[in-house]
Amino acid sequence: MSLSSRDRFLAACAGTPLERPPLWVMRQAGRYLPEYRELKAKSSFLQMVRTPELATEVTLQPLRRFALDAAILFSDILVIPEALGQGYHFRDTGGIAMEYRLDTRAQVDALAPAHAVPDRLNYVAEALALIKKELRGTKALLGFGGSPWTLATYMVEGGSSDDFERIKQLFYTDRGTFDALLEKLTTAIIAYFKLQIAHGADAIQIFDSWGGIIAGPDYEAASLQWIRRIVAALPPDFPVILYAKGTAPHLTDQAFTGVRVLSVDWTCDLAIVRRTLPANVAVQGNLDPVLLNTTPAIVTREATRLLEAMRGSNGHIFNLGHGIMPHAKIECMQALVDTVTGWKN
Ligand code: CP3
Repeated sequence: MSLSSRDRFLAACAGTPLERPPLWVMRQAGRYLPEYRELKAKSSFLQMVRTPELATEVTLQPLRRFALDAAILFSDILVIPEALGQGYHFRDTGGIAMEYRLDTRAQVDALAPAHAVPDRLNYVAEALALIKKELRGTKALLGFGGSPWTLATYMVEGGSSDDFERIKQLFYTDRGTFDALLEKLTTAIIAYFKLQIAHGADAIQIFDSWGGIIAGPDYEAASLQWIRRIVAALPPDFPVILYAKGTAPHLTDQAFTGVRVLSVDWTCDLAIVRRTLPANVAVQGNLDPVLLNTTPAIVTREATRLLEAMRGSNGHIFNLGHGIMPHAKIECMQALVDTVTGWKN
């Protein structure tokens, strides 16, 4: 019996044995695709995010080209700070600039109320509904959002950061303000994820992209407790995927937050992670994204090596260990797709 991509994806989340793992790629819609660059020459990134028809088109671009098992909504984690009243743009030199830096209790209190977020992000609901219709149930549809900690880093640092000094200062010197901000973000994200689920998301990935810069003993207070609250507020058994870059020492704690899947970065040996984690938690990953900038032969060799290392283990979603890079080659992505979809357990 041949499974639809959506069924294969959901079966992997549930740890059901499969002939091959489902495949999708973080940032699968983006600058490495000529059709994406062509659209972006006509509209800005933020216009594409805010226009449901454009967001739908960009979401579907990689699926037209490659036999991927899941579509991920084209959007950005920073739509949440924006909906709370702190806008953002891209610096010409690369990276994010927020409209201002947030670090006082008065500024936290001046943000929009969390319950205003779903209305302000209604364009996301519209995009999801359009994508869902186009997919006709064949592919899994993933929603996503940033973790409260990762969003707070952008809000408090005022954009992308190298040292994360301001957010850490806030965490250590004014825990009341830090907690008030993370509480508000947590409530907003819960409402946002419920909106995504109501409009067709089959699973949701939480990006804790900066979880790895927190001192080990503070990871719980600064990031994981808020993620746990989000998962607890979503429908029981709804598949939540957690991607927390650079947090290998915390994988076991993450496995007990209630998330269904842990997305693991490329620095871990995924087969060891699989053997170490409880069987009811699936793993996602974890080729080094840079491999897609090399050659198809190298991609085939390394993807096969990962598939063989995972042979016989259940609960694996094939992906990269972080987002695909702008210099990734189309022929390398094709080699990855051919290798994973042609493999048999
Ligand atoms: O995976 C997907 O295909 C879905 C789309 C997606 C984007 N951003 C599109 C995007 C997702 C899931 C994100 C999440 C996101 N956004 C994260 C967490 C993921 C991670 O990589 O850890 C973060 C930290 C952001 C914030 C953000 N947005 C950054 C740091 C950047 C890069 C800025 C730069 O220096 O160029 C973006 C821009 C962005 N988000 C692009 C895309 C396709 C590139 C925009 C462009 O120039 O075309």
